[in-house]
Amino acid sequence: MSRKYGDEYGFATRAVHTGNDVDAETGAIRRPITMANSYELPFDPSTMNWSSAEGNLYTRNGGANQKYLQEKLASLEGGEDCVVLASGVAALSGLFFALLQSGDHVIFSSVTYIAVYRLLNELFNNKFNVETTIIDTSDIEKVRAAIRPETKLIHIETPGNPTLHISDIKALAELAHENNILLSVDNTFASPYNQRPIELGADFVVESLTKYINGHGDAMGGAIIGKREYLDIVRAQSQVNLGAAISPFNAWLIMRGAVTLPLRMQQHNHSALAIAAWLEQQPEVSFVAYPGLPDFWGHEVAARQMVNGYGGVMAFGLKADHDTHNRFVSYLRVITSAVSLGHDESLIVFLGEDDERQYLYPEEFHNGFFRFSVGLEDTGDLINDIRQALDRIKADTED
Ligand SMILES: Cc1ncc(COP(=O)(O)O)c(C=O)c1O
Repeated sequence: MSRKYGDEYGFATRAVHTGNDVDAETGAIRRPITMANSYELPFDPSTMNWSSAEGNLYTRNGGANQKYLQEKLASLEGGEDCVVLASGVAALSGLFFALLQSGDHVIFSSVTYIAVYRLLNELFNNKFNVETTIIDTSDIEKVRAAIRPETKLIHIETPGNPTLHISDIKALAELAHENNILLSVDNTFASPYNQRPIELGADFVVESLTKYINGHGDAMGGAIIGKREYLDIVRAQSQVNLGAAISPFNAWLIMRGAVTLPLRMQQHNHSALAIAAWLEQQPEVSFVAYPGLPDFWGHEVAARQMVNGYGGVMAFGLKADHDTHNRFVSYLRVITSAVSLGHDESLIVFLGEDDERQYLYPEEFHNGFFRFSVGLEDTGDLINDIRQALDRIKADTED
């Protein structure tokens, strides 16, 4: 247990200190990276449970750096316990695998990261006979109507990837609990600096640590935060036996990245809001979806539950054809064309009109659109980069 853990400390203080401590052996004021697969056994190991996630035994069962990071994330999300795993998808699949049985029913958002769709709608449905309903979870009456006696879990993403779709966490938690259902919320786009679903009643938070929490685009990880009684099952099944353990080095990198989460999120929030408002004014732009814009359909709910800002991710389109969208990206000089989000550098990806889930998205997304993750560069440089790329497109048509 580290020195500073309690709720009496603010978010930034806990981001710096929780999970860190003085190293008992050297006196260093930073806990070291423990790159070890195994830990020394007691005098008589013959009665040990080799599948136990308690104590230090084997790094797949739980290593030192993993535990430090779990302490920090449980504190930042306001949860009782945390399990960190090898990626955000390992966390999602780990939670689903631990909670769901054959014959259960799951309701999940029509806008989610693609792996959620693959896992629930294809793998769990086809292989394990888990029934699924994909629904617009911003509409509470639709969710209520979809509930069945065997509904075990409602899983949402808010803001959702890639359309920034917003769902009301508090209202869904109330509905779920009235019906004895668990609610899990993927908080990757917001990060705990902007939104804390457990405080709003959610049972679980899932995070891709690969994004804002690490923040530097150099390590993958995932976390589930929630009640210990459930997380012990996740640990036993998904970590120890499915083997999705995070490497100690990645856990250490993410721990280091998380220290500056509050400061980074302030810049992401500030810059993205300014750029979204600017983009809306550009004649070449067909639409901008960003929860911080007052005219965004989900703004009111977002303003209630996103306490410090709206994050760095937005979607927008151009009044242009498929090829022009691609040329626009090729003309960018500061913003990089790559998947992922929440990195220090700005990233953009063109999601074309042929995406298989297009029918689940609002109409303005149907001609193809960009998912744009605003990084930590100067806001003015990002605006200038977009403006010069738009000017080059215009010049192409005038040639
Ligand atoms: C909302 C969301 N959840 C989960 C994931 C998966 O995370 P990872 O890539 O770390 O497995 C992503 C990845 O983009 C995501 O955007």
